Amino acid sequence: MASIAVYSVKGGVGKTTLAVNLAWVAASVSRRKTLLWDLDAANGSGFLLGVDPRKKRSADSMFADGSDPAKLIQPTAYAGLDLLPADESIRTLDRQLDRLGKKKRLAKLTEALGKTYDRVIFDCPPVLNELSAQVIRAADLVIVPLPPSPLSARAFEVVVEEVRGQGKGHPPILPVLSMLDLRRSLHKAAREANPNWPAIPLASAIEQCAVEQQPVGAFAPRSPAARAIAQLWTAIERKLASQ
Ligand SMILES: Nc1ncnc2c1ncn2[C@@H]1O[C@H](COP(=O)(O)OP(=O)(O)OP(=O)(O)O)[C@@H](O)[C@H]1O
Ligand SMILES: [Mg+2]
Repeated sequence: MASIAVYSVKGGVGKTTLAVNLAWVAASVSRRKTLLWDLDAANGSGFLLGVDPRKKRSADSMFADGSDPAKLIQPTAYAGLDLLPADESIRTLDRQLDRLGKKKRLAKLTEALGKTYDRVIFDCPPVLNELSAQVIRAADLVIVPLPPSPLSARAFEVVVEEVRGQGKGHPPILPVLSMLDLRRSLHKAAREANPNWPAIPLASAIEQCAVEQQPVGAFAPRSPAARAIAQLWTAIERKLASQ
């Protein structure tokens, strides 16, 4: 099993959209048994996959000692793709993890999911706290979506510092130029400065995911956006294999 975090300290950079679309490619194209783990209270991943949030949310916390988050897993409309939605406890997760004092709680839970899944993808909230530290400890690879702007470049530096701060054995980081629009000079310059970074175009097909409540590969499989996401997944698999 390999786990992949889609993470940035900056909000609105395309983390949720990318996490959902990558999870779909992993399951539907690569035929990996995949779990998308939504760690954001906004529940965006579930929304994009058209999974109804449970009416009665779990009262007990999925992170409390002895509890089993696997009980909260829901199937999606796609074969091989399951969702672990954010439950009520996610609001206080950071404090809870701090209180538990177990630095590898999330890593241990993820490891246990390896019995069932080939790939676990984390959709992370834009935070820098105990939760993000735990995600970085649990992840085999950290994907950082980065729209070409000085502010996201700054956010990327913060993520790199945070990941490296975990010391030896920290996961590799894969920056991804997101929402790339080559008609804009700033974007063009960012592309030229980082020719080897994977890139996801600014595309109305990707925006439409939230309207269709489906991954782009499911409703526009031949679009350039779907191709870019599939290519990114290939780059991720290659990176995982080279570790
Ligand atoms: N490549 C893209 N092209 C066009 N629109 C995009 C693209 N990627 C994301 N978006 C749009 O940008 C907005 C933010 O995306 P998303 O919610 O995935 O970001 P996020 O990083 O998860 O945000 P948050 O930090 O709030 O969790 C959404 O409206 C989404 O549809
Ligand atoms: Mg999000």
